[in-house]
Amino acid sequence: MAMQTELIKIEREHMSLSAMKRAGKILRAGGLVAFPTETVYGLGADALNEEAAQKIYAAKGRPSDNPLIVHIADMEALDRIVEQAPETAKALARAFWPGPLTMIFHKKECVPMGTTGGLSTVAVRMPSDEIARELIRQGGGYIAAPSANVSGRPSPTTAQHVYEDMNGRIPMILDGGPVQIGLESTIVDLTEEHPVILRPGYITLDMIRSVTGEAEMDKGLIADDSSVHPKAPGMKYRHYAPKADLQIVEGPMEQVVSYINRQCAVFGKAGVICTEETRGRYLNGDVKCIGSRKDERSIASHLFAILREFDEDQVERIYSESFDTPGLGQAIMNRLLKAAGHQKIDVSVR
Ligand code: TXA
Ligand code: MG
Repeated sequence: MAMQTELIKIEREHMSLSAMKRAGKILRAGGLVAFPTETVYGLGADALNEEAAQKIYAAKGRPSDNPLIVHIADMEALDRIVEQAPETAKALARAFWPGPLTMIFHKKECVPMGTTGGLSTVAVRMPSDEIARELIRQGGGYIAAPSANVSGRPSPTTAQHVYEDMNGRIPMILDGGPVQIGLESTIVDLTEEHPVILRPGYITLDMIRSVTGEAEMDKGLIADDSSVHPKAPGMKYRHYAPKADLQIVEGPMEQVVSYINRQCAVFGKAGVICTEETRGRYLNGDVKCIGSRKDERSIASHLFAILREFDEDQVERIYSESFDTPGLGQAIMNRLLKAAGHQKIDVSVR
């Protein structure tokens, strides 16, 4: 039952009000619209309409126990869908909203279980992207939106990525150009005694601590064995898996480069994820530069697009340098490790 998918270019500075109204009308009628946010593109539906939210699962092929994030445009909306937001949440909102932070609260009755994957808690985010904010207002104020990829593929950072995955499945995609950040929002659980980060993102643990004092990483995120399960249901699924086998190579840069070079010399169709600092030193293979180590944001913003490019190039193996820094590196490595199915090799011990 393929439908015609309309791809509409929206100028952030001079938004076409008629296009935004049309998109809002689709949402209020229970339909789906894909739209840009500052993190990744989202696939939106009316969060308070159970049937509408269910369409998201169908379009993405997403497991129905994986809850959706509700996007809002103002603080009044928060009070209408959550039970008593704690003071720490209000402080975090003042510091980071609108922006790439999602917070988990106890939900009110009006939020359907179909939106929260059967949980009594709800994830809420106030995005900063102007197109997203206008769409939320036009769409009724509460937009459930996961990343707009087919389940298991890298999150979309351009409208073209969304089109690749959603053409024929949804009526409309708003094209606001490439996103700014390129990794999904930081998720913080505020239903426990102290804030717990369930998914690392642009807002780092240190940034959270600077506002709330205490805060920690979910044990399920940092555990190397699989005995501790991550608390965000979505974090347990293998995401972003490129078609090729992906391996992360750790160790002193000198040894990393020579290990990857040796591997690529014997492997016909191999890909390499490198940085500005090392790009000239790889001799073989499909070498892609992800950004500069001097600017972690550049690395974050190119990761998902590069994983998609390797699928097109049909490489059989991908070797990636490691990006394990305390800041944004936590989020970059979290996504890269998921893409690699946790395949990591330390070449310093060889
Ligand atoms: O940046 C983002 O957050 C993007 C843009 C579109 O806003 N959205 C996004 O949504 O990444 P999605 O559905 O791809 O990821 C949502 C994550 C999943 O891992 C899900 O399990 C978790 O949030 N989540 C949602 N509600 C939750 C809840 N009540 N408790 C725990 N985890 C929850
Ligand atoms: Mg996602």
